[in-house]
Parts: sequence; C-alpha cells; structure tokens
Amino acid sequence: MTQNLADTSRPAAAPIAANAGATRDWWRDAVIYQVYPRSFADANGDGMGDLPGVRSRLPYLRDLGVDAVWLSPFYASPQADAGYDVADYRAVDPMFGSLLDADALIRDAHQLGLRIIVDLVPNHSSDQHEWFQRALRDGPASPLRDRYHFRPGKGENGELPPNDWESIFGGPAWTRSTDPDGTPGDWYLHLFAPEQPDFNWENAAVADEFRSILRFWLDMGVDGFRIDVAHGLVKAQGLPDIGGSDQLKLLGNDVMPFFDQDGVHEIYRSWRRILDEYPGQRIGVAEAWTPTVQRTANYVRPDELHQAFNFQYLGTHWDAAALREVIDVSLDSMRPVDAPTTWVLSNHDVTRHATRFGNPPGGTQIRTAGDRELGLRRARAATLLMLALPGSAYLYQGEELGLPDVTDLPDEVRQDPSFFRQAGQDGFRDGCRVPIPWSGTEAPYGFGPTAGGPSWLPQPAEWAGLSVEAQTGDPTSTLELYRSALAVRRATPALGAGSEVTWLDGPEGTLTFRRDSAEGSFVCTVNTTGEKVLVGAPGRVLLCSTGSVEVNAGEAVLEADSTVWWAV
Ligand code: NOJ
Repeated sequence: MTQNLADTSRPAAAPIAANAGATRDWWRDAVIYQVYPRSFADANGDGMGDLPGVRSRLPYLRDLGVDAVWLSPFYASPQADAGYDVADYRAVDPMFGSLLDADALIRDAHQLGLRIIVDLVPNHSSDQHEWFQRALRDGPASPLRDRYHFRPGKGENGELPPNDWESIFGGPAWTRSTDPDGTPGDWYLHLFAPEQPDFNWENAAVADEFRSILRFWLDMGVDGFRIDVAHGLVKAQGLPDIGGSDQLKLLGNDVMPFFDQDGVHEIYRSWRRILDEYPGQRIGVAEAWTPTVQRTANYVRPDELHQAFNFQYLGTHWDAAALREVIDVSLDSMRPVDAPTTWVLSNHDVTRHATRFGNPPGGTQIRTAGDRELGLRRARAATLLMLALPGSAYLYQGEELGLPDVTDLPDEVRQDPSFFRQAGQDGFRDGCRVPIPWSGTEAPYGFGPTAGGPSWLPQPAEWAGLSVEAQTGDPTSTLELYRSALAVRRATPALGAGSEVTWLDGPEGTLTFRRDSAEGSFVCTVNTTGEKVLVGAPGRVLLCSTGSVEVNAGEAVLEADSTVWWAV
C-alpha cells in the first residue's frame, strides 16, 4: 500500500539554501515548533487536521519566528494511538492527505526558511502493519514472527503472559495471539497498546527496514526525525521479570529491562552515518525517558543523535531553586558530549504548562483547571526563561496562544487509548490535543473551513477570545509576547548560543543569570514568587512577561511570577 509520488522524476525538496553547507549548526539553538497534525488546521472540513491545513498555515509559523516544525505522525495508521501506531511508514494516511501533500509541505516550508522534522516510530508498529498481519496469518512457523516478540505463555496451557512486564498504558505488556486454526497461540509484546506490537530489533530485517525508511524521508527532503520511544528499542536478553507491579512508578528511577538498554546506541550510530550522508545537517532528536539527564546525554554523543528532549526540565515546577538546579544539571550533562541542551515545557503527552503552573506541584498529568490566571502568568514567565537559556527550545502548538488544558472533556469524546485501560499512564492526554483556535466567534474557530463545522475534540467556548485573530495586534496577548520573544531571540545571539549561564546573586525566589557573546551581553531575571521583588536594574529592558517593568533610579520592580530580559 506504499504510496508513490505521482511524478517519480521530481527531485527531492532542496535543503534550505542559506544553511546548506554552512558551518553553523542550525540545530544547536533552533526553536522547534511541534505541530500535532490532527489538531492544527483542517483544510477539508472533516473535523480532523491535515497536511494541506498545515501547509496553509506555514506563513503563520514563519511570522511567529520559529526555525523548524516537528510534525507528529501523519503516516497510514488505524489511529489506535493517534498515529503512533504506524501501518505503513512510507504512506500518508488519507485522513491527513497524500505523499504529494507531504512533498508540497516540505517544499513550501523550505521556501519560507522553515525546516521540517518528522516523527519516526521505530519501537513498535501497528498491529495492522503488513509484517504483523502476515506473522499472525502464517502461524507460529512464520519467519516474520521473529520481527516482533512472540513468546509462548507460562502456565499449564500457556494461559499466563511470558513475563511480568506492564504496558505503559496499563495492564500487561502482552496479548495472546490466535493461531490460524482459531486456537489460542503465543503471546506478543506491546509496551503500549495491544494494537502496537513491539519490533524485535535483534532481527536484521527490522534494522534494514528502518534504515530504508530513513532514506525514504531524507530523499523527500525532511531535515530530521523525532524518534519516538528512542530508549525502548532494545530489550534485555531473555526478557527478565521485573519482580514487582506498578512498574510505571519505577520509570525515572531505575533502568528497566525494556528501557534505556545500552544496545540502543549502536542503532543510533548507524542512523547518524545515514543522516551525515545528506547535505544541510539533517538531525535526529531522541524522545528518551531515562532516569537521569546524564543518561540522556548518552543519546547525543558526537556519533549518535543531535538532540534529546529534556523531560527533567519539563517536569520541574515553578520554583527558583528547583529550576536553577535542573538548568545546571542539564547544561553540565550535555557539555561533555558537546550536544546542545534542549528545553521544553509542553507537548502532546502532558498537561499544558499554563494549566500545570496554575495547580500545586503534581507532575505532568494534572486533571484540574487550577488557577487559570496564575497559570498563564507563570507560563508566560516560564517561556521567557526557557527562551533565554542556551540551546534549542521546543514549543507545542497553541502554547503561543496561552491555551490551557481542557480538563473537563466528557468521557464519551475521549480518544486517548490509555484512558480506556486500567492503572496505566495518564489517560488524559486529550486535554492538550484539542484543536487550536485561529479565528471567528464560532467553533471550530477557523480550525476547519466552515463556522459550525466539526472538530474531532470539542473546543471550549472561551477559546474564541484566545484565537490567533483575537490576539494578533494586542500587545498584552500571549501570542504577541511569543512573537516579540522570538524576534528578540533572533536578533540577540547571546540568548540561544553557547552552553553557559553565569548566575548572579538575587533575592530569595528569584533567578538572575547573564549570557555573554561577541555581539553583546544579556541578563535574564525571573521572579518565581507571588510578590513583587526589588532588584538592581542590570541594563535596558528588552522584554518582560508582564508587559512592562517599573525601573526607577537604577532599581527595578519585578512583578510576581515574571521574567524580564535585559540588554547590558
Ligand atoms: C510517545 C508519544 O509521544 C506518545 O504520544 C505515544 O503514545 C507513545 N510514544 C507510544 O508511541
């Protein structure tokens, strides 16, 4: 079912001319904007976002001032996990468009000076993938079974799973297959939903196939890959029991036999060689949940991937001491491998930071709206802090509008597969996936072409006031704050470049750091407290998360929960 570009003689989209062959590593301080295609823009009015919709909004992203766009999966998929269950890695799902649409999108993006990073899902396929279907159909003797993890069950009649591993989405990580004669057969491993069988990366055909998939998209002109579950591909020999339940809680503290195994690094070394064959600095970004930032650094050694998400930063609450510590540890961990640190506050798997910060500290899955005003104030300050740090920053669509999570979606509209499984991770990820508002006063607020038309998740009525149209030109809006911040960041190399911050003294609950570059110096002050704080004004105000800052006779009043950028 793999699609072909109608005109196979078309050359691949050209890399961005300005940077092709340039010595500067564009990705080291890039601001990368995550598009979740289902929820970004719906060109054909079916209620589901699509690639023509993304393409039509590329000028908006160029004007916002980001460097690259990461697209969550748009491949052929039964959508058991919103596209993270891929049935054909070389085809675009008809719900999102066609390969021609992907090609046109990449070309347009490059013309606008935007790079395109696509999601790659190598840990598992869809259960509808041709290999898995054949493995089931051809029975236990099928050589295709070895491309997945099929095992006989334990117990007298094989009625128990082969080991005690739990699925991240809840329940056992194993599902029993049915043999062609209709009798219960072997079990197969799925660290996520049963519709997402894990590949066996010991099988050479799996490794070959993914190298070929990489080349397919690189030939199409993409600038890089965000690698889903990059830490999960290799499983410990013998698939040993863990010996306890509630394993999800252990993630983040211990190395599990299914995560962060040393063998994964050989895979990334082979991928790096492929990326380096292409012009224009194509990159790999690891989604690797590891126990420590130090272990994350292993994924971005000079001969492996380029970046890894900094989930420790994402998980840090609005607290000066905790933020300073995670910033230091992050920078210190990446320095020895000469990789840029990344910063991220929101994505499609966690509660949006405008909602997290309006609630008491409680992890990345929050189910209550909390104090909206407080959350937004802190979110704006947190964004300016993030964009002042050295390295690359990731934005998630809609955060530039200050969107909160939708915490009151009715159960009947929810689609997150983990919502339907017991005792698994989160289950409430739909709240950050609600289609974003562009314009107008009636849902879907310009997400689709027709007022009153459908959207796959309902949008709250108050989002009319948060649309791109409503915020454009309003100097107090979050959108204009992001636009200004990204413009200043572009014009002030001291913001993203390098790998050092110099901490300066400041009152309790505040953070002050200085960044120096050949072009000039910059100071960032952050007040994480709920009170105004008086500090010495370090220079000229460049930007302030609350709109303005009072400076008098060399002293500045930092508003509660605010960040100020200063030129010094
Ligand atoms: C991480 C993705 O971000 C998430 O959305 C998905 O459910 C899992 N990987 C499984 O692919």
